[in-house]
Amino acid sequence: MFCVVSDTPFSVTAISVETCLLSFLAVVLVVLLISHLSKPKLRLPPAPYALPIIGNWLQAGHNYNHENLSCLSKKYGEIFLLRMGKRNIVIVSSPQLAKEVLHTQGVEFGSRTCDAVLEIFTGKGQDMVFTVYGDHWRKMRRIMTVPFFTSKVVQQNRAYWEQEIDNAMKDLRNHPAASTTGVVVRQRLQMLMYNNVYRILFNRRFEKEDDPILLELKRLNGERSGRAETFDNDHGDSLPVFGPFLRRYLKKCEEMMMERRHFFYKYFIEEHKKRIMLNSPVNEDKCALDHMLDAQKNGEMTEDNIFYVVENINSAAVETTLRTLEWGLAEIVNNPEIQKKIREEMDTVLGKGVPITEPDVSSLPYLHAVLKETMRLHMPVPLLLPHMNLQHEKLGGYDIPAKSEVVVNAWWLANNPEWWEKPEEFHPERFLGPQKMDVNGNDFRFIPFGVGRRSCPGIILAIPIASLVLGRLVQSFELLPPPGQNKVDLTGKWEGGQFSFHLAKHSIVVCKPIS
Ligand code: HEM
Repeated sequence: MFCVVSDTPFSVTAISVETCLLSFLAVVLVVLLISHLSKPKLRLPPAPYALPIIGNWLQAGHNYNHENLSCLSKKYGEIFLLRMGKRNIVIVSSPQLAKEVLHTQGVEFGSRTCDAVLEIFTGKGQDMVFTVYGDHWRKMRRIMTVPFFTSKVVQQNRAYWEQEIDNAMKDLRNHPAASTTGVVVRQRLQMLMYNNVYRILFNRRFEKEDDPILLELKRLNGERSGRAETFDNDHGDSLPVFGPFLRRYLKKCEEMMMERRHFFYKYFIEEHKKRIMLNSPVNEDKCALDHMLDAQKNGEMTEDNIFYVVENINSAAVETTLRTLEWGLAEIVNNPEIQKKIREEMDTVLGKGVPITEPDVSSLPYLHAVLKETMRLHMPVPLLLPHMNLQHEKLGGYDIPAKSEVVVNAWWLANNPEWWEKPEEFHPERFLGPQKMDVNGNDFRFIPFGVGRRSCPGIILAIPIASLVLGRLVQSFELLPPPGQNKVDLTGKWEGGQFSFHLAKHSIVVCKPIS
């Protein structure tokens, strides 16, 4: 009895602890159940089966490009979701939904995603291209519009571009191999593009291809695109298992950015400041850097902003236009009848031997159609730049969780056989029909520069420069594949992560002067 009695207090305590624990557990379960049931059920876009931790990495991660995404869109529809580790990526592949993202809900989807490497490249959004949609972006675009993105800039620079193109044609004529075994024309056009852009940016040009500063600039830019692309960046950021590799990689990126910053300050920014101390520029003579330095004085930009915006222009302007020129030239070489038609159009409209100038571009519809067809078939930025919604949004009837990456597959819009006849063929005539589809996005099937708030402001420069260069090449030379070859190789390759698609091998082209 005593034993039982003496045991009683202990048993009572044991029962009450057990009861308490069970009740607590029950309460927790009920709360969890209620919160689960009361949570609004998300209607997410269709998605391929995603594995735990790695998500859809096996289906798309190792081959995340416009062609693979087009295949997935045939299976999962015009909007589908990919889960890359912790990232949600929404792929949009119809003109209607592209219009929603870029135009109708342009504010909602007007931000950009930034992975760990891009955060280093942009100083965590201190730039213009990758910053979120908001006041900072508006300010940067406003400051850069006056020196870069107006038709007045085209008028101020056109004579200079025409002179640069003249110089390039002369160099090609004088190159001993150009008319026999052929040359990599891209190499000379690259200096031409740096000169055209760096004049507006820094009022600076390079005289020779072996200028040590130009060589160093090209080396640094090549290294930067490579770094944006590698395995560690693409997957280390979204897949936590690769985290340790990423840390080492990010350190290398930071070191590279320090080196770039030192380079740009030493050879361009400080050098320019010294020049303007002696002779300060007024209105028309001001380059973009002068405008940025003025903004710095007014407290609208910091030294960091200036560096990251310079970085933006440096990477957005030169290689995109150059790659368009490279694809266009390759197609012109491979299609002699198209080359002949371009030449005949210029002979008829301008007169034989009269070099094309900027005001002529608008009266040469066939040349313009060749440029458009080049950008349709070989879109230089096939997935545009990634868009992002800061808040939860609806798209095509589906829920898009906040901070999803929204990718418009612009290449597929321009190459889907549903609305393009024989899209795999290079056929400029398709742009000469009554539809008047233009590069400015008047039709969402063809949007190589994007549309809306985050669309490319550089279109105003890229189109006249590219038309002038291609036109002048065709006027000056008969452009042929190298001896023993029928055609130049048109295999493409990705560079700079998901951003840019270009010719895998730089074409060698024979340039036979036309007297
Ligand atoms: C053929 C040449 C070019 C092509 C195909 C091209 C294409 C593009 C594309 C697709 C975008 C992203 C649009 C979006 O995400 O919706 C973009 C953005 C941009 N491009 Fe270009 N571009 C070219 C030349 C240039 C040039 C010459 C410049 C400058 C001088 C430039 C400056 C920019 C800037 C600053 C942005 C970011 C706009 C923003 O986020 O506010 N681009 N470009």
